[in-house]
Amino acid sequence: MAEKKAGPLEPKSILEQASMQVQQSIQVEPLGNLRRTHTCNQIRPENVGQPVTLMGWVHRRRDLGGLIFLDLRDRYGITQCVIDPDAGEAFSKAERVRSEFVLAVTGKVAARTDKTINKNLDTGGVELVVESLLILNTSKPLPIPVAEDAQVDESLRMQYRYLDLRRPLMSKHILMRHKLAKAVRDYMDGQSFMEIETPMLMSSTPEGARDYLVPSRVNKGKFYALPQSPQIFKQLLMVSGQDRYFQIARCFRDEDLRADRQPEFTQIDIEMSFVGQEDVFAMVEGLVRHMWSSVMNVELPTRFRRMPYSEAAERYGSDKPDLRFDLDFHELELSGGPVSGIVKGFRVAGKGAQSRKEGDAWVEMAKNSGLGGLFFASVADGEVKSSISKHVGEEALKAVAAKVGAENGDLIVIGAHADRKKLNAALGKIRLEMGKKFELMARDRYEFSWVVDFPLYALNEETGKLEPEHHPFTSCHPDDFDKLKNNPVEARAAAYDLVLNGNELASGSIRIHNRDMQIEVLSKTGLTYEEIHAKFGFLLDAFEYGAPPHGGIALGLDRLVTICAGVESIREVIAFPKNQQAQCLLTNAPVDPTQEQLDILALKIDPSKLG
Ligand code: AMO
Repeated sequence: MAEKKAGPLEPKSILEQASMQVQQSIQVEPLGNLRRTHTCNQIRPENVGQPVTLMGWVHRRRDLGGLIFLDLRDRYGITQCVIDPDAGEAFSKAERVRSEFVLAVTGKVAARTDKTINKNLDTGGVELVVESLLILNTSKPLPIPVAEDAQVDESLRMQYRYLDLRRPLMSKHILMRHKLAKAVRDYMDGQSFMEIETPMLMSSTPEGARDYLVPSRVNKGKFYALPQSPQIFKQLLMVSGQDRYFQIARCFRDEDLRADRQPEFTQIDIEMSFVGQEDVFAMVEGLVRHMWSSVMNVELPTRFRRMPYSEAAERYGSDKPDLRFDLDFHELELSGGPVSGIVKGFRVAGKGAQSRKEGDAWVEMAKNSGLGGLFFASVADGEVKSSISKHVGEEALKAVAAKVGAENGDLIVIGAHADRKKLNAALGKIRLEMGKKFELMARDRYEFSWVVDFPLYALNEETGKLEPEHHPFTSCHPDDFDKLKNNPVEARAAAYDLVLNGNELASGSIRIHNRDMQIEVLSKTGLTYEEIHAKFGFLLDAFEYGAPPHGGIALGLDRLVTICAGVESIREVIAFPKNQQAQCLLTNAPVDPTQEQLDILALKIDPSKLG
């Protein structure tokens, strides 16, 4: 929950009162006509002797008796400023300066001695010998540290986000985000794509989440939905002949939040006419390669691998496999004792000597993931040893070792379940955890893969209804039209995901551009003809006026920056994120509406429904 901020009528803490007294005694000076000559990351040994004016925040202050050192910071970097008692007024002001005061300093650039060079700073070869100093503003003691990378409660960081963003690491993330977005615009422009804005106030786009609704004052009792994505509009832009569209688009989804999900987030949204799947892949590969080479200085391969959804599920237990490490599954011929049903196993190189305690922890995880248990074998001196050898037989275990490619010193992990999907999912979780535990996920490796041939529908076991696996504008795989008619749950979609290091980075498809096919695909989800018309009549109409074949994709920009920045949560790369309860702790949104606002919108809140 948000920490309650002190309102204007609440008494100030003793600390605050003391800091106000300090500030009151300090004269703040006007900027006037003074301007900076350099940023805090610009002066170098070649500037020695030159007069320079810098402006910024006091990052650190050290008073060494005779001399005062101020590290002055702006978003570009840090410069050490030194103030001698001979500097007169500047020195007496520097004595009163505290962290995060805003200063303008003028002086001459001096070289540092070999002993005092700071290799951690770009400006570390020089310092500014200050002759005059203006205190442009004071600062209270900070509620969160800016100068150190200490562990700070995330709620406090969000409440004081404007301070959190002063931290050099956060500035770096924001800059990287800007550069990646700029790389997108440059590349797309060079490929004849146009950036076109689409509406924020619109009717619902079905992307599988709940909508954020906005009440209409002019049309009382009616609501707009904020876009879950620009999906329908980008398709209509293709019908309108715009041919190649992109947009760095805000999307809004009311769904359960996780480390890689925010209620509002940003997509690099793309749509192209007269294309097939491989054309979209080639375009996105070019875009991603450009982003990595121009921002990350990393050269990616020209072509990313392609993997059918079925292979991703069977080999890695995930539709977004982390391919930085192997630990891939093999189906095994094994039964006896506790081992029954479908049996799969994988090899973990060099980990054969795990302790009983370590083994038990994996078994516990397997049980929590829906398996009855988990079995291990290890290879030592050419022998395969396992607690299940008396049930399954030594020969069978030898065959297992050969199948998974286990050698001396390796561990073999074996799981079994009657249900293939459950077995894959549970082993998938264990594989990922082992990847983490055994440090197999190198931060600076980027393993991209296209996952293709997704099912068109997923069966919702609660409602018994089919739901689109991607969204309902996705066309059926060209080889599966018969299945769509007769056995839709078996039909594949012309849909694809781009996966990077275990994250779904992007998702897209070749679209339906034919009215009858669109009605057929929608009707399989249980919608009546009338419902389809009421919701999507405008799209069906558009398809009757020369809709071109088209396809596209959307990349999650926040996820992309998160991976490039090497951080765990997308909140680290969004300037003003929401917390897990979808609240903005800085502005306190969402807030109670006033009665007047409700009356104008003809709305009433039912207190019995408030949680
Ligand atoms: P999809 O719903 O898969 O597809 O979204 C595309 C990509 O957007 C990112 N993403 C998110 N990022 C942060 N927070 C969220 N809540 C969130 N939800 C999704 C992911 C995801 O891969 N209209 C289709 C795209 C298309 O078919 O062209 C769509 O929105 O990285």
